[in-house]
Amino acid sequence: MKTPSRFLNWLRGLPTHLILIGLCLIWILPSLGLFITSFRPVQDINETGWWTILAKPKGYEEFQAYCASCHGSDGKAISNADLTNPELVQNYRRSFALLTSLNREIDGQIHMGDTPIPDDKTTATIASYMRRISGIEARPKFTLSNYIDAITGYRGNSTYVTDCAAGNQSVDLYCNIRDLTNPRGMGRAFINSLLVAIPSTILPILFAAFAAYAFSWMDFKGRQWMFALLVGLQVVPLQMTLIPISRLYAQLGMNGTFWGIWLFHTGFGLPYAIYLIRNFMGSLPHEIFESAYLDGASHWTAFTKLAIPLSVPALASLGIFQFLWIWNDLLVALVFLGGKYPVLTYQIGNMVTSLGSGWHLLTAAAFISMALPMIIFFALQRYFVRGMLAGSVKG
Ligand code: HEC
Repeated sequence: MKTPSRFLNWLRGLPTHLILIGLCLIWILPSLGLFITSFRPVQDINETGWWTILAKPKGYEEFQAYCASCHGSDGKAISNADLTNPELVQNYRRSFALLTSLNREIDGQIHMGDTPIPDDKTTATIASYMRRISGIEARPKFTLSNYIDAITGYRGNSTYVTDCAAGNQSVDLYCNIRDLTNPRGMGRAFINSLLVAIPSTILPILFAAFAAYAFSWMDFKGRQWMFALLVGLQVVPLQMTLIPISRLYAQLGMNGTFWGIWLFHTGFGLPYAIYLIRNFMGSLPHEIFESAYLDGASHWTAFTKLAIPLSVPALASLGIFQFLWIWNDLLVALVFLGGKYPVLTYQIGNMVTSLGSGWHLLTAAAFISMALPMIIFFALQRYFVRGMLAGSVKG
């Protein structure tokens, strides 16, 4: 049989490739849009979509149609009526004034000549275009003010630096730090999220590693039963424990403390973590451990020198997933920390509800909260894929 030509092979793979490209586009396009939008000035966001960033500014078409024949396509052709000159355009800020000028005669000639005079709406559009090209109303295409406002906490104006300076005469370091850690901003929330997520990831995995070692390599009574119980514990819904635990915390004075939330996440992370690491450790080759014990290694040595280094893939992928789940968690943070130490999810929620019109900040806020998960994903892709397969492939 003839081997199929390269072209045929390519053709056969085409549907798969097209589907993959389509899937990539489905998530890349909105992310790109969100990313670009987060850098646009708020007025632009309200007026036009992000895909227009490469288009000519609003009013360009109308200007070309009505005015360019005499004033030139850049508006500079008539030297004593240079439409890019701010001082001249200053007099025509309002479309009404411009319309009057268009209707007036210049040196006995009708201003517009044979060209028809544009209607009110078109004139307004042209007036705003002139304000733009003359620099009266210049606004940058891209700005960091969404990010600055989101990080420092929205203050109702989009120029945080002047805001900081206004209170303090000069923009000094202290002023900047104070604004960066403003409790209403995403900067402080980011730190709070880190303070919640890092210990809540390390603690359960550390304890789970000890337990998993015991379950796989130590002989003690009731081992199977305890393990079965642990597997069973995974079905307890988190919501069921909210009331008893918050009552307990209230008695211990642990509501609204980081200790409380660390403990809670540790408790709920443990069953699954033990289950997963035990499955992994238990499938490590017996011979290695037996020869280590024969050589007189203690359990501690076997744990630190053998079990842990060999389980790094499982520990890492578990760590990634635990971290991401806590990073995106709102429920637990809301119940046990609330507004006392607002985390990212809480702060983003605040932005939508109390500032319905401030959704431009949400674009920046979303990216701030996405940044860390994205970095983790790209840095630890290898473990990420293994973690996804952990459920479906044995050990
Ligand atoms: C038929 C040619 C022609 C067209 C079309 C035309 N202009 Fe003019 N425009 C002129 C001339 C000529 C002047 C006067 C220059 C001078 O003062 O010597 C002028 C002057 C102006 C001035 C300054 C007026 C003043 O009082 O000094 C403005 C503003 C202006 N034009 C805006 C526009 C706009 C906006 C359009 C398009 C909607 C437009 N023009 C279309 C020929 C034209």
